[in-house]
Amino acid sequence: MNDARFSRPRTSSRAYLFASGKGGSGKSTLSAGIAAALAMSGKRVVAWDADLLMRNLDIYTGLYEHALFDLSDVLEGRKSAGEALTPHPEIPGLSLLAAPAKRIAPAPEDMRRVARELLPLCDYLLVDAPAGIDDAFRLAAAAADRAIVVSTADLSSVGDAARCAGELDALGYRRLFLAANRVAPREIGRGFGLNLDRMIDRVGIPLIGFVREDRTVVRLDQNVSALMMRKKPTPAARDMRDIARRLTGERVPLPLR
Ligand SMILES: Nc1ncnc2c1ncn2[C@@H]1O[C@H](COP(=O)(O)OP(=O)(O)O)[C@@H](O)[C@H]1O
Ligand SMILES: [Mg+2]
Repeated sequence: MNDARFSRPRTSSRAYLFASGKGGSGKSTLSAGIAAALAMSGKRVVAWDADLLMRNLDIYTGLYEHALFDLSDVLEGRKSAGEALTPHPEIPGLSLLAAPAKRIAPAPEDMRRVARELLPLCDYLLVDAPAGIDDAFRLAAAAADRAIVVSTADLSSVGDAARCAGELDALGYRRLFLAANRVAPREIGRGFGLNLDRMIDRVGIPLIGFVREDRTVVRLDQNVSALMMRKKPTPAARDMRDIARRLTGERVPLPLR
């Protein structure tokens, strides 16, 4: 797919796409959790819900009652990208660019323009992509230049993650990382269990971390910000915090037993 319209933005800033191919692998959960962790460590973070038809990052960031503006306000000229952000009331440094509540059809260049406006306002722009590797996905991909490909252990998710990584490579992405999600505690013994090993082999990009299966996510009604703010972090919250630290260049070993 060498369509020039979908080429990546020219920027040295840190814009990460959360992608997977398959729906339900945890893109939105991980983008919200890692965004919260980065902000809690003092970074300025914009979480951008680029799943334009299935808006839900407002729920995952705990901001769905707060988001007054969205991407359509920027594209239709009512707000600048900065003005359309929803700041998190309890996590300084974290804000959301919500997906439009109505159907809009931006062009990749529109997404790149909004990314260019947002990048000077933050240290990290985390872009939550829709499932699939079609035009809607490539639209989200136009807003970033690095990616975290999220996969669960099941074979269909792993296959889709591999295809997604291939597509991102074809779009010009050069920094691709794999995040394994919903990892069963028994998978992480002294080395990796079979599933995790197979995932790393098949997707063929470096592992940035794993996130363990965590029932608290559902108990908190998918408010991942609330999960990250708990005084006593759950294993998944620690895992997402570790990934955030690795993104900032820290060397954080995988918590293998
Ligand atoms: N590590 C985890 N532990 C438990 N549940 C999870 C975990 N990650 C994601 N989920 C749940 O899986 C479902 C899909 O996650 P989501 O982030 O919406 O995926 P995607 O954005 O890739 O479609 C949600 O119900 C979410 O709460
Ligand atoms: Mg999602």
